[in-house]
Amino acid sequence: MQTDVRPESMQRITTPELAQAFIEEQIAAINKQVGPDGQVLLALSGGVDSSVCAALISKAIGKRLTCVHVNHGLLRKGEPEQVCKVFGEEFDLNLVYVDAVDRFLNALAGVSDPETKRKIIGRIFIEVFAEEARKLSGISFLGQGTIYPDILESKDGIKAHHNVGGLPEDMKDFELVEPVKLLYKDEVRVVGKALGLPDSMVFRQPFPGPGLGVRCVGAITRDRLEAVRESDAILREEFAKAGLEGKVWQYFTVVPDFKSTGIKNGKRTFDWPCIIRAINTVDVVEVTVEHLPADLIDRLVQRITTEVPGINRVLYDFTPKPPATVEYE
Ligand code: XMP
Repeated sequence: MQTDVRPESMQRITTPELAQAFIEEQIAAINKQVGPDGQVLLALSGGVDSSVCAALISKAIGKRLTCVHVNHGLLRKGEPEQVCKVFGEEFDLNLVYVDAVDRFLNALAGVSDPETKRKIIGRIFIEVFAEEARKLSGISFLGQGTIYPDILESKDGIKAHHNVGGLPEDMKDFELVEPVKLLYKDEVRVVGKALGLPDSMVFRQPFPGPGLGVRCVGAITRDRLEAVRESDAILREEFAKAGLEGKVWQYFTVVPDFKSTGIKNGKRTFDWPCIIRAINTVDVVEVTVEHLPADLIDRLVQRITTEVPGINRVLYDFTPKPPATVEYE
């Protein structure tokens, strides 16, 4: 296993050549750690860190890597399909796709407290992952996309950097394989590009673990969750068309659980509002609001109110952090 401390002499990975050298080094290191017969299990969310980790381990040991992708129903539009396409077709590994949408949404039905929602999502995720792990035999390694800021933050007591603590007893003896744990986020992205991962995966914006669940404010219902997913897809599409992709740090939509009156085709409506949030930050401790061009706002209002069922009003959140947080829950 590698050390948890990044050596002062370690060169910052900024070019495809440096990324290639890192990839070769890690392939050798993974093979050495896992041995000729060792098998690795990895929870693959489709985020940058777990995707790069999966791609690296796959290059080293091929089908002795099993990735489990749990669809909890709270992912963005097109994400589960993209994970299945990229890792099911383009990389040499075993991909287990678990459709756990009903299980998550049934457990979340009627739950409005944000922390309880987060706990339920976390608990069921571990349950589903452990159930899949038990179906497999001969696995003794757990791959994890831990990155260097996770290690630094866990040292400072800011967050727990890995989920081993949450795993059931029979999985706690798994040895960790963490090939990107000494890298900063920008380096992980350079390595991801060199591994051939699509830009939409490598450069994607931060996405909370509980996913769209914290953007469907209050008790989650399937129709309101779909309104969040559809409006988010429209927002991302319009940002890309306006050339703002990669230029604004994070942008998303939120659908709160109250309704207001509106009018459509001459008839009264009573529907939800959709809130647009677009922010910039360096450290996420303080956040400023991106002021969007008026014509982009007009297009978003037009498209979201006509294309997303259940939405009759679009609001734009101008609040920085502090006093607001980025997410609504
Ligand atoms: P807040 O709302 O705390 O968000 O100002 C700061 C950043 O963290 C993300 N975020 C999360 N990420 N699990 C995560 O992995 C979470 O539960 C979570 N909550 C917030 C948020 O999207 C923003 O980038």
